[in-house]
Amino acid sequence: MSDIESSDIFKFFHPKSVAVVGASSTEGKIGYAIMNNLLNTGDYKGTIYPVNPRYQEVMGVKAYPSISELPEPPEMAILVVPGKYIPDVVEECGRSGCQNVVIITAGFSETGSEGKALERETLANAHRYGVRMIGPNCLGVFCTEEGLNASFAHTAPKAGPIGFISQSGAICTSVIEYAVQENIGFSDFVSIGNKADVDDADLIRYFGQDDRTRCVCIYMESVPDGRKFYEAAKEASETTPVVVLKVGRTEEGAKAASSHTGALAGADSAYTAAFNQSGVYRADSMSDLFDASRALAYQPLPKGENLVIYSNAGGPGVISSDAASRLGLKLAELSEETIGKLSEICPPTWSHGNPVDIIGDADVERYDKGLHIVLDAPEVDAVVCLLAPVSIADPLEVAKGIVEAAKTTDKPIIASFVGIIAEESENYLERHGIPAIEFPERAITAMHALMMRRRYLQGGDA
Ligand code: COA
Repeated sequence: MSDIESSDIFKFFHPKSVAVVGASSTEGKIGYAIMNNLLNTGDYKGTIYPVNPRYQEVMGVKAYPSISELPEPPEMAILVVPGKYIPDVVEECGRSGCQNVVIITAGFSETGSEGKALERETLANAHRYGVRMIGPNCLGVFCTEEGLNASFAHTAPKAGPIGFISQSGAICTSVIEYAVQENIGFSDFVSIGNKADVDDADLIRYFGQDDRTRCVCIYMESVPDGRKFYEAAKEASETTPVVVLKVGRTEEGAKAASSHTGALAGADSAYTAAFNQSGVYRADSMSDLFDASRALAYQPLPKGENLVIYSNAGGPGVISSDAASRLGLKLAELSEETIGKLSEICPPTWSHGNPVDIIGDADVERYDKGLHIVLDAPEVDAVVCLLAPVSIADPLEVAKGIVEAAKTTDKPIIASFVGIIAEESENYLERHGIPAIEFPERAITAMHALMMRRRYLQGGDA
């Protein structure tokens, strides 16, 4: 089928009406959870049509026996009926003028030859009527702008600048949990399951043109069409950074991916080369995926390569230096002038170099003053701010100082209040757009993503 236009993908996230085929009044059923989410977890204003021949109404909303009996073709249908009915329901959607379907149902190409045949039949019916489909074997879709939660997840993501795509529904629910706690927000969020029709490339193109999305973040097990992916990623990368966690890198991992979503993982080195050339930042782990994505979505790009590691403690500074060196990041050489200014506010035992260790007895005032000195220094392009908790420097006050300092500069800042998780200081930073990451080496990875993006835009590989 032809490439899907971004204006058609838009309708998956901004439908004026949604039908739920297999809507249920029985608590514990997926058709119940989806109805409940649509009605009660966002503030979706469109029309909702439960479809199930057994009911007159579902959760107080008038129900219809079939798609073809709705008063209008819905802009999107969520299908949650057993697999054997799916090809016919898709055909009925097509005949009735419903062009976008999301198939939650599992048991397709991920299960073997019968499932593959069922997926082919479903796709053929979709193609015959120009229906586009997300899934099968997926969790659903979210659009934070519309308050749309067309999924069976038990929590909805917060609004923000990241467009998220996942081949695994379980990763979606885990990511929502994590992101809610870490104050990471999303524009649209999509579980694409077996991606029999709409795939990462279609969604990357869409996100690349979407004003609300400042970074595309992808969990991926396979790419159905390498060339299409490469071209879409390259095009989107001109405006919007793309971060990918591509798993199934080892033989064992590839086998696991195959039985999960029917994915054929492909040669890993070919992926790395394609990612580099198309500007994609390749994450090695879930923490990398989110550390990189939040940096790219929330922080400006550095204007040069010179990084300062700013710290009230030696150990975290050493960890960060090691990590920076491993990743090929350059530590700024401080000028005599900057060293002089820091010497005026620090005891003689401060590090006199980079990492800038202002020593463990630093109070909030010293931390603040020193941070302004390094941010103002012309030889510095980016700062990783470390804080080891000590009684003299209240972390929340330090966080407030960092947020104020960030307002005075266009240089990127990544913070790591080492060991502090989900406390007010960390939340304060995150709510104000400063990524706060609990371990220093991860803060360096986040900074690495910004540096690599800068290099890519300057004409190198990612
Ligand atoms: N049109 C409308 N409704 C129909 C229908 C049709 N053609 N055929 C069946 N239904 C209704 C049923 O009446 C039922 O609702 P009710 O029990 O309240 O009456 C509902 O659809 C579901 O059918 P049911 O036979 O009870 O199936 P189920 O709920 O046990 O399972 C799925 C259906 C889709 C949930 C199941 O097949 C499945 O795929 N589960 C796994 C989903 C998954 O993990 N996806 C990937 C996530 S990442």
